[in-house]
Amino acid sequence: MSDLLALEDVHVSYGPFHALRGVGLTVGEGEIVSLLGGNASGKSTTMKAILGLTRVRAGVVRLAGEDVTHRSTAHRVRAGISSVPEARRVFPEMTVDENLRAGAYTRRDRAGVADDLDRMRELFPRLAERRRQQAGTLSGGEQQMLAVARALMSRPRLVCMDEPTMGLAPRLVDQVLDEIARLNRELGVAVLLVEQQAELALSIASRGYVLATGQIALRGTAAELLDDPRIHEAYLGKAVPA
Ligand SMILES: Nc1ncnc2c1ncn2[C@@H]1O[C@H](COP(=O)(O)OP(=O)(O)OP(=O)(O)O)[C@@H](O)[C@H]1O
Ligand SMILES: [Mg+2]
Repeated sequence: MSDLLALEDVHVSYGPFHALRGVGLTVGEGEIVSLLGGNASGKSTTMKAILGLTRVRAGVVRLAGEDVTHRSTAHRVRAGISSVPEARRVFPEMTVDENLRAGAYTRRDRAGVADDLDRMRELFPRLAERRRQQAGTLSGGEQQMLAVARALMSRPRLVCMDEPTMGLAPRLVDQVLDEIARLNRELGVAVLLVEQQAELALSIASRGYVLATGQIALRGTAAELLDDPRIHEAYLGKAVPA
C-alpha cells in the first residue's frame, strides 16, 4: 500500500538561503507522525512545501500516490490535505461559524457541509456555545480548537498541524494533544504534528522525524526516539533525567 503522504528529497530555497536540503518523510493512512526540531530547523517550511505555500525547487511531494509538487493549494485540499497553520491563525473578524464554513471552501456538497458543521459542534461543544462570537475574542485555547475544527471541515485525510500547542498553558497543552489523539482515533484522520515539545508530541505519535538545519537528522518510532540519547541532548534539553 502506498503512503498517504510522501516527501522525496525535497529542497526549498528562500533566495540564496537553502532552507530544506533533501527532506524525505512519509505519513501512512490514519497515522500520527511527529515532526520535531529546534527553532529555524525548517519545520514550518516543510509544512508549507506539503501545502503548496512555498515553491519546491527539487524533489517530489506525493499525496496518495499523486505527484502534487507543482499543484495549487486548493488542489491539494481537494485531494485530502488540510492544515492548522502556525500561530493558530483564525479569521478574527469572522464568527466561529463563519470560520468553520471557510474551512469547507473547496466543497460543493452543501448538505455534507451542513452535516459536518453539526459534527464539529458535537465534537467541540465550546464552539457550539460560541458560534456567533467573533473568533478574535475567543480565548487562546478556544481559538486553537477552532483552528483544528476548521481544518477538519474540508474532510481531510491528513491534517498538518504547525505547533498547535504554542503559547498554551500546560493543562491546555495536554487537552489539545488529547483532542488530536481522539480525532485521529474517531475520524481516522492522519496527522503530521510539528512540535517543539518533543516528548509530548511523541506521546501521541507512532513515529517521528527530527529536523536539523533543513535535513532529517533522526527518525524512528516514537519509542525509539524517546529512548535516543541524542534527542534528549539536542531537543529535550535538560528536562529529562539521564
Ligand atoms: N519567507 C522566508 N524568507 C526567507 N527566509 C525564510 C522564510 N521563511 C523561513 N525562512 C528561514 O528558513 C529557516 C527555516 O524556517 P522555518 O520557519 O521553516 O523554521 P521552523 O523550524 O518552523 O522554526 P520555528 O520553530 O521557530 O517555527 C529559518 O532560518 C528562516 O529564517
Ligand atoms: Mg515554525
